Amino acid sequence: MKTIIKSALYLSAAMTVLLLMAACSGTAEIGEAPSEAVCKSLVDAKCVQCHYKTRICDALGTKSVGQWKRSIKFMIKQGTQLTEDEENKVVACLSSLPRGSEVVCK
Ligand code: HEC
Repeated sequence: MKTIIKSALYLSAAMTVLLLMAACSGTAEIGEAPSEAVCKSLVDAKCVQCHYKTRICDALGTKSVGQWKRSIKFMIKQGTQLTEDEENKVVACLSSLPRGSEVVCK
């Protein structure tokens, strides 16, 4: 009986470590890009306090997902208020929108 409990404990400890590793890894899935309406309202609400959207428009189609992640982390350091969910959504939006997309460029 004791050994069963012990191995169950080991197992759950191992699972926790694995989950933490998945949660912390930089390559965690950002998920599908949200609809254009969601992308637009996020950018309009969160990304225009410090610079025009032209800054973002100019960068469309030039960055990988990883590069967008880094850019958005930089914006957050500058003071952009984004929840983790919003951060992932913005990255998914910007890395999937084509150059010149009306979502950001209008
Ligand atoms: C708190 C201020 C602030 C907010 C809000 C902000 N940014 Fe920025 N952003 C900056 C600063 C500072 C720079 C650097 C400006 C420069 O290079 O002249 C910058 C530059 C950029 C650039 C050009 C440099 C690059 O990394 O390609 C992009 C693209 C960009 N921001 C995207 C965004 C997006 C998308 C959002 C909304 C999620 C956002 N920004 C919100 C401060 C902000």
